[in-house]
Amino acid sequence: MPAPSSAAAGDSLPFVYRIFFFLIEPISALVGAYFAHFRQSTYLNLTHAESTPSPIPLGTTIAMSQLANLYLFFAINEALVLRSTSDLRVWKTVLFCLLIGDLGHLYTVRELGLPIYWSVSKWNAIDWGNIPFVYLGAAMRIAFIADFTGFQVNGPETWLEFHKNEFQPKPFGDYDVDIKVECCGVCGSDVHTISGGWGEQQFPLAVGHEIVGKAIRVGPKVTLIKKGERVGVGAQSYSCLDCRQCKNNNEAYCRQQLDTYGAVWPDTGIVSQGGYSSHVRTHEHWVFPIPEALPSTAAAPMLCAGLTAYSPLVRNGCGPGKKVGIVGLGGIGHFGLLFAKALGAEVWVISRSHAKEADALKLGADGFLATADKGWNEPHVMTFDLILNTASSFEGFDIDAYLSLLDIHAKFVSVGLPEGDGIKIRNQTFLSNGCFIGTSHIGSRRESIDMLQLAADKGIKPWVEECAISDKNLAETLTKLHNNNVRYRFCMIGYEDEFGA
Ligand SMILES: NC(=O)c1ccc[n+]([C@@H]2O[C@H](COP(=O)([O-])OP(=O)(O)OC[C@H]3O[C@@H](n4cnc5c(N)ncnc54)[C@H](OP(=O)(O)O)[C@@H]3O)[C@@H](O)[C@H]2O)c1
Ligand SMILES: [Zn+2]
Ligand SMILES: [Zn+2]
Repeated sequence: MPAPSSAAAGDSLPFVYRIFFFLIEPISALVGAYFAHFRQSTYLNLTHAESTPSPIPLGTTIAMSQLANLYLFFAINEALVLRSTSDLRVWKTVLFCLLIGDLGHLYTVRELGLPIYWSVSKWNAIDWGNIPFVYLGAAMRIAFIADFTGFQVNGPETWLEFHKNEFQPKPFGDYDVDIKVECCGVCGSDVHTISGGWGEQQFPLAVGHEIVGKAIRVGPKVTLIKKGERVGVGAQSYSCLDCRQCKNNNEAYCRQQLDTYGAVWPDTGIVSQGGYSSHVRTHEHWVFPIPEALPSTAAAPMLCAGLTAYSPLVRNGCGPGKKVGIVGLGGIGHFGLLFAKALGAEVWVISRSHAKEADALKLGADGFLATADKGWNEPHVMTFDLILNTASSFEGFDIDAYLSLLDIHAKFVSVGLPEGDGIKIRNQTFLSNGCFIGTSHIGSRRESIDMLQLAADKGIKPWVEECAISDKNLAETLTKLHNNNVRYRFCMIGYEDEFGA
């Protein structure tokens, strides 16, 4: 297995470099600033006795202040380099301030005359060494970062306010693929994350993890993806690829797994940003070629919603002769129905009301149960082989009624991740049928590829509502999803119009 890219050796800062920028330079900057501002004559006598004019003219003071400011500025700047801030505005400000600082230098040259200015500043070798470094560093950062722009949210209080910001992706590793995003599905997890329902998150954050686009740059060791290929990325973007789980097609359960958005990349502190962005950068293992037969907007929602349904279905024996229940006809639920049918099972949708009954039947359901009906479970008690629960909330959730549907030792697998503290369950609940309950987390690379192929082979057509990406449309779309007003997945499109070709 290839080594993980996030720890790419070339990207982490050598120890000596860290000591220099974190310790030596800030201390020398502070000492320099103190003397330059408050002890100017001592400073000049100490360092440059012969050329010190007496009394010190105004221009020298300005020069000293300028140098002091630059010292301080470099220290702050380099601290920011090390923290690899993801906010491009910082870098633009750095460059702007440097330019202003240098205008000050030019003014000082005019005041002092070049010879004195030169002799005052020439012992500041560190200064001269720094200037090209900082200019070049900041300019390069802007040049490289500027390609990545996304709609970010600043926090849960303003979770429907999307700001179009430039940001810095993780450093490009040998196994990485840069993808120019073409479209991105809108997942229930996006709402949980930015609205604060899942607790604290990293902000500013661009969510979106059902991404399809074009591979525009591949790392030198990439073998799984070709440049120019149409590819997809789902909810996961990293795992160690070396542990027991990773080696057994269970990389979604790797203890080092990282999410496509909101995860902090090890070593760099950079927060991963999702697909409501112009580009994403992903390790090849989590980039999947999209079969030609699948339109991009059909494939995108499969990468999280589809896979989250597909994996537990195939792992728990969904197939011909099995009676399978799907709780919740939302994004994941409708894929549960489509894939369970494609795998050959008898499929029943279990929704809260009859509002989605006609749709469920159109999508291919063999039967429909509405939990609002009195005694809705009675005719089906102990007849189901498997139930996939996709409910995104526990409001009024009667687990006993759902479990009563299962045959002996049959399974109730929940993929929904409701907010709050969860629900209570007693051993007695399982006694009548000895059923098992469990969960499932997205799926593996193998399953992603198999699922996409199955969808292509069987001509599976998810119900997707397309919507042009913009701050306003994202707010509207996420509100609709939050209010259960979607049939059955939104997919943001129009990236070229918004982010450029
Ligand atoms: N495990 C994973 O790996 C994974 C991956 C992605 C997402 N998720 C989670 O899965 C959940 C569903 O995501 P989604 O994108 O499919 O969301 P969604 O489109 O909003 O669908 C959720 C569906 O759950 C049903 N539901 C909501 N509240 C309910 C309640 N109190 N009781 C019973 N049913 C209820 C609704 O269906 P009806 O109207 O038919 O009742 C709703 O359409 C979210 O919590 C999401 O975070 C998990
Ligand atoms: Zn998702
Ligand atoms: Zn692992």
